[in-house]
Amino acid sequence: MAKKSKQSKILPIYILNGPNLNLLGVREPEVYGYTTLAAIEKMCADQAKSHGLAIVFRQSNREGEIVDHLQEARTSGCAVIINPAGYGHTSIAILDTIQALKIPVIEVHLSNIHKREPYRHNSYVSKGATGIIMGLGAQGYLRAVDAVAEILKVSK
Ligand code: DQA
Repeated sequence: MAKKSKQSKILPIYILNGPNLNLLGVREPEVYGYTTLAAIEKMCADQAKSHGLAIVFRQSNREGEIVDHLQEARTSGCAVIINPAGYGHTSIAILDTIQALKIPVIEVHLSNIHKREPYRHNSYVSKGATGIIMGLGAQGYLRAVDAVAEILKVSK
């Protein structure tokens, strides 16, 4: 566990989810799995707690709202984990906001976007991310929480 004195000062990890991820569990489960976003939130909260960390968990179908959430994380978060979903392939605005952050950013994709259609191979978010985890399904979020804890040197 992180030391209590430090723990009380550590800001939450912002875990941000892009468009259509609210449909996880029913949306193309053969690609994205059967785990719902609510279940992923609970798993992430438990994993973060095991490292002495807390989370803020959001989902939005609107690009500008994701920009707002990233800007909020800039001052109120210790790190960002983001699955930008379809916006990862298109949004320079989201990349710009990520590049303005001074905290670690881990990009997560449930599927391996490089094994899929060519239009999914580019991610603008990757160009600003500290690290990228893809193809591990819902587990990828947990590995991203572990990576944040390691980067922040929050020891178990
Ligand atoms: C995704 C991959 C994207 O290409 C897609 O648009 C998504 C989900 C993933 O988690 O695998 O919505 O980000």
